[in-house]
Amino acid sequence: MNNITVDKEKCIQCGLCINDCISKCLDFDTENYPKMKYTEHCLGCQHCMSICPQGALSFNGKNPDDSDKISNKNILSLIKSRRSVRQYKDEELTEDEWKTLKNMLPYIPTGCNSHQLHFSIVEKRAVMQHLKDKVNNRLIKLLNNKVLSPLVKHFEVYKKAFEKGEDIIFRGAPHMVVVSSPITAPCAPQDPVIALSYLELYAQSLGYGTCWCGYATICIKLFPEICDILEIPKGYSPIYAMLIGKPAVKYQRTIQPEPYKISEIKDVIQKDSCIWCKTKRFFTNFLRG
Ligand SMILES: Cc1cc2nc3c(=O)[nH]c(=O)nc-3n(C[C@H](O)[C@H](O)[C@H](O)COP(=O)(O)O)c2cc1C
Repeated sequence: MNNITVDKEKCIQCGLCINDCISKCLDFDTENYPKMKYTEHCLGCQHCMSICPQGALSFNGKNPDDSDKISNKNILSLIKSRRSVRQYKDEELTEDEWKTLKNMLPYIPTGCNSHQLHFSIVEKRAVMQHLKDKVNNRLIKLLNNKVLSPLVKHFEVYKKAFEKGEDIIFRGAPHMVVVSSPITAPCAPQDPVIALSYLELYAQSLGYGTCWCGYATICIKLFPEICDILEIPKGYSPIYAMLIGKPAVKYQRTIQPEPYKISEIKDVIQKDSCIWCKTKRFFTNFLRG
């Protein structure tokens, strides 16, 4: 069960941790200090600990002083300090700022060097506003249906927020980049994700905020007319969306994530797996594609 502890001597009750919580798990307690209210919704992203200007908030007992200070001086600190930004300034990126980002794009690798990616770059906030209004209205209509498709079910919990006009999908970002690949490309699902990973790190190295946007990706698939607005060429499939803009928040320290599982393979160890295990493995690999 995720939880936070707050050092009341250090906390200045600014509420930055509460505002930045994607799942709205945090709230002020009766003495106006942050507390975990809905732990079951917590994603464990540690943004609350990362954003605290005072180092007053500990996530799951982790000492904020054990985090690295944010610095984008080398690639490792950039990777460690990259955060999903969901609060943006109103300001748009300038033509020159976009030019700098676009100049990097041709260097992104693609499978078999097919080099056929398509980037839909929403450069104007007004277009984002149009997309947000369109998507909110369409989702409200779909959510009024008795039977919801599995894709629409993702959004059931946000129905009231959509009705209030909240921007749950695009997070108020002034820009979005959607990368599409030709359905026939050898690495059609992988190339756009690699492209956005490069873009994300480069953009964050320049001080911009980014956020992978699964919700926008679902909406693009649900409402094909958005593909026309995004000028996605015929024969191309939109693979993923990323929000981008100048951040209205500043993270102070890195998170302290749990390690992933790693098998350190240094020798060939022959294990006799039973026929049942082999069959299960075959089908798991097959289903994963
Ligand atoms: C593939 C992918 C899809 C995501 N989709 C969304 C999304 O639709 N909306 C959102 O607010 N965050 C989205 N995120 C951001 C994750 O919630 C975030 O990466 C996670 O909470 C960890 O936080 P961090 O990126 O700041 O380390 C997505 C991230 C990934 C990698």
